[in-house]
Amino acid sequence: MSKVFFSVAVSVDGFMAPEGMKLEHAHDPAYKDWMAQWMELQQWAFHQQFFRENLKLGKGGETGPTNTFLQQIFERTGVSIMGKSMFSGGEHAWPEEAPFHTPVFVVTHEQRQPWPRPGGTTFYFVGDPETAMRQAREVAGDKDIRIAGGASIIQQYLNAGLVDEFWVTVPPVFLGGGTPLFAGIDREKIGLELGEIISTPRVTHVNYTVTRR
Ligand SMILES: NC(=O)c1ccc[n+]([C@@H]2O[C@H](COP(=O)([O-])OP(=O)(O)OC[C@H]3O[C@@H](n4cnc5c(N)ncnc54)[C@H](OP(=O)(O)O)[C@@H]3O)[C@@H](O)[C@H]2O)c1
Repeated sequence: MSKVFFSVAVSVDGFMAPEGMKLEHAHDPAYKDWMAQWMELQQWAFHQQFFRENLKLGKGGETGPTNTFLQQIFERTGVSIMGKSMFSGGEHAWPEEAPFHTPVFVVTHEQRQPWPRPGGTTFYFVGDPETAMRQAREVAGDKDIRIAGGASIIQQYLNAGLVDEFWVTVPPVFLGGGTPLFAGIDREKIGLELGEIISTPRVTHVNYTVTRR
C-alpha cells in the first residue's frame, strides 16, 4: 500500500518559509527580504543536477548524495497533495512543464476546473483534505503519496494521523520568523521515531517515522 510522506526544507529555528513570503508580496522580493531568505533556505537544491533539470534551470549541478535524495523522492511519488498557498506561489513561478509530472490535488475553498500542464502534471482542486487523500489513494498506484506542503496542510494531515513518515532537510540557516513547520502538533497523539540521516556539507536530511501514541 502507498505510504503517505512529506519532504520539505526547514530552517534550524523551524520555519519553512520566511515571514514576508506571502502572495500579496510575490512581485516585491525586497519586502522583508523574503526572496533572499527563501534562497538561503533552498539554495542547496539549486546546486543539484536533478532539481535543475526538473525545473528547467539548465544543465550541470552536483550529483552526490543530495542529488540522489531528490531523485529518489521524485521517483517514489505517484501523486502529490498541496495547500492553496503553496499552489498560488508556484502557479506563476513553476515552468509551463510543472515539476510534478503526476496528478496534484490542491486543497482549497476555491472551486476551479482541473488545470493540465504539459509533461503530465494535472492540478485538481478539491474542497477538503479527506477528499484529496481519498482521490490521491485512487491514483497513486504502487507509488507513494507526497504531501508537498505548505505547513498548514502538513499539520492537518499529521494531526489526522495520516502521515507515515517524513524527511526534513535542514540547511545551516536561521530565518528568525516566518511560517513554522510544526505549529500546533498534537503531541498527545503523534510521536516520532528517528530514521535514516544523510549528512552532507550543505545540508542534513533527517527521516522520521510517525507513530500513534
Ligand atoms: N520549505 C519547503 O520545503 C516548502 C515546501 C512547500 C511549501 N513551502 C512554503 O509554505 C508556504 C505555504 O504554507 P502555508 O501553511 O502558508 O499554506 P498551505 O498549506 O500551502 O495552504 C493553506 C491554504 O490551503 C487552503 N486550505 C488549507 N486547509 C484547508 C481545508 N481544510 N479545507 C479547504 N482549504 C484548505 C486554504 O486556502 P483557501 O482558503 O484560499 O482555499 C489555506 O489558506 C509557502 O510560502 C510555500 O512556499 C515551503
